[in-house]
Amino acid sequence: MKTPIIEVKNLNVSFGNFKAVDDISFSVKQGEIFGFLGANGAGKTTTIRTICGILSPTSGHIYVYGEDISKNTSLIRNNIGYMSQKFTLYKDLSVKENIEFAGTLYNMDNKKIKEETQKLFNLINFNESENTIVSNLSIGVKQMVALCAAMLHNPDLIFLDEPTAGVAPQIRAKFWQLIKILAQKGKTIFITTHYMDEAEYADRIVLMQTGKIIAIGTSKELKKQFFKTNFYKITPKDGNNIALLKEKIELLNFANNISLYGNSIKFMLNNYKKWQQFLNEEANSITYQIVSPSLEDVFLKAVSGK
Ligand SMILES: Nc1ncnc2c1ncn2[C@@H]1O[C@H](COP(=O)(O)OP(=O)(O)OP(=O)(O)O)[C@@H](O)[C@H]1O
Ligand SMILES: [Mg+2]
Repeated sequence: MKTPIIEVKNLNVSFGNFKAVDDISFSVKQGEIFGFLGANGAGKTTTIRTICGILSPTSGHIYVYGEDISKNTSLIRNNIGYMSQKFTLYKDLSVKENIEFAGTLYNMDNKKIKEETQKLFNLINFNESENTIVSNLSIGVKQMVALCAAMLHNPDLIFLDEPTAGVAPQIRAKFWQLIKILAQKGKTIFITTHYMDEAEYADRIVLMQTGKIIAIGTSKELKKQFFKTNFYKITPKDGNNIALLKEKIELLNFANNISLYGNSIKFMLNNYKKWQQFLNEEANSITYQIVSPSLEDVFLKAVSGK
């Protein structure tokens, strides 16, 4: 079997007495899109910063490219890309100046910087002037340029900490298409996000809560692990009051995990006979569908611990 590109074993990171990362272990394969999900303060950024060698572990081991990072920090730093959550580009400088600055950090000469920039700008379809000041870019374009700056030195392993935060949905989808292309080229992408919908694009997902990993697997595996059955989705036909219908479902006691879902009500069935009775009575006023659980459902269930 190939050596994993990242291997984390029993990692703990504390700030004083506070455990931000609490005994986590996982490995990442080459070419994988590895998604880290968790609420604010779960420990995602701390994990990334520790793998990148910016923070020191309190205990545990981290291997990147098979090397113990505590013994070979510079090799790892020169061979990874890191797009941080808070700081990405200098807002008062132009795109060109930012890219050149990133290049000098990796000791690249001007010719190499130009070549790599051209390739990356083609990849992201950058069609604005390089002299545009970063603060004048839309947030989506800014994040794409920041991605270019983070991978100008052509690393095989790229860490993206919430790159799509605050980005419009269509642009988020474009960003993920880009990530898919990078993975197809053999790059390994370690990405965090708050958006459950886009986490579906990751090959494997980690759910993190208060420093601990509470679940890990493909989206399909996680759904199977947390839900043995599918959901039902009821949509009232025109003119029906959805709140009243929800109350009725609650009262009739044939469902659990009942929630409003856009213009529909989603639930899990626990009494088939009562459900059939309800269907007979409501046949003219509702339509229903069977739907598989979403990652958001998985996350809510995993976090609730039930
Ligand atoms: N340098 C620090 N000193 C003290 N506490 C810290 C430090 N950095 C992070 N923490 C704390 O560690 C916990 C984990 O923070 P972290 O930034 O890793 O979470 P996160 O999952 O990235 O959250 P977010 O989704 O908000 O980015 C938080 O409670 C945070 O306040
Ligand atoms: Mg964070």
